[in-house]
Amino acid sequence: MIQFSLNGQSVKTDLPADTPLLWAIRDGFELTGTKYGCGMGLCGACTVHLDGNAVRSCSTPLSAVAGKQVSTIEAAGEARVGAAVQAAWQKLDVVQCGYCQSGQIMSAIALLSSNPRPDDGEIDAAMGGNVCRCATYVRIRAAIHEAARSLA
Ligand code: FES
Ligand code: FES
Repeated sequence: MIQFSLNGQSVKTDLPADTPLLWAIRDGFELTGTKYGCGMGLCGACTVHLDGNAVRSCSTPLSAVAGKQVSTIEAAGEARVGAAVQAAWQKLDVVQCGYCQSGQIMSAIALLSSNPRPDDGEIDAAMGGNVCRCATYVRIRAAIHEAARSLA
């Protein structure tokens, strides 16, 4: 039995300890906002926060989250930074197909939580692991700047 916090609630699962966190989130807890892309830690679609840091849930085993705090896109808007990021995403109409965007937003929140005024290089470095097949990168970068301004 593995216990952890999921979006602020204590949860337990008896899935095997080597089960990817992504499967537990999506299939065990039915939070389907977090997406499966590559399954190999290469695309960022599955990004969630583990104790506030952006991690790839497809390549994070359940054993690594025992006793820790996991948050997903479903709870992203509940905190100040997340709400600002989501508002900026809407204002600048970032999303195209949307498949990558929950991962993009979770990475953006983690970035702004540790660096409130990132420059373009810092944004590109932090977001480089989040792939967007619709190539929304220019709008993503602009929305991160917009969120930073709104939080200042
Ligand atoms: S699905 Fe996890 S990084 Fe691609
Ligand atoms: S918006 Fe389509 S993959 Fe990013």
